[in-house]
Amino acid sequence: MILPIYLYGHPVLRKVTKDISSDYPDLKILLDNMFETMYNADGVGLAAPQIGLEDRILVVDLSPYEEYDPSCAGFKKAFINAHIIERGEEEEIMEEGCLSIPHIHEKVPRSNRIRIQYLDENLQPHDEVYEGYKARVIQHEYDHLEGIMFVDHISGIRKQLIRAKLNKIMSGNVNCSYKIKRHVKK
Ligand code: NI
Repeated sequence: MILPIYLYGHPVLRKVTKDISSDYPDLKILLDNMFETMYNADGVGLAAPQIGLEDRILVVDLSPYEEYDPSCAGFKKAFINAHIIERGEEEEIMEEGCLSIPHIHEKVPRSNRIRIQYLDENLQPHDEVYEGYKARVIQHEYDHLEGIMFVDHISGIRKQLIRAKLNKIMSGNVNCSYKIKRHVKK
């Protein structure tokens, strides 16, 4: 089932998510829905707050990056109760976008290497190191689990330049090819 993607300005995107318990109901269905929602929006990653949940879950599929990095082919994964426990000191700058911030792309510095502990879709524990595109996308999605958005990382001047666009998104004045959830202020 394709779910609406919550837009920048919605308070759920600013919540720090919580680990889920092993008896979390319908986890497989949720993961399927997250992948379907991500693919429908042509995304390579999606975090639970983007569909309105405060659960520590993210999904990625880096297959579209195969032409730049062959090891991204078929890199489809769910990271549950994810915790980044180390970040490399070296940073790389690359342009990013976000399904919750349509039509905005900005250069974002990120660590070139991360070590992450998580559970897979069968709740089996893993402790892995990632670099390159994998480290970048996982850090972007992981930020969502911490209530952080990629525009928080860009410099003050750039941020001023996109402020008007962000305000438009916050007021729900945005066109999107996929289903979105606007935040209506009461
Ligand atoms: Ni995002």
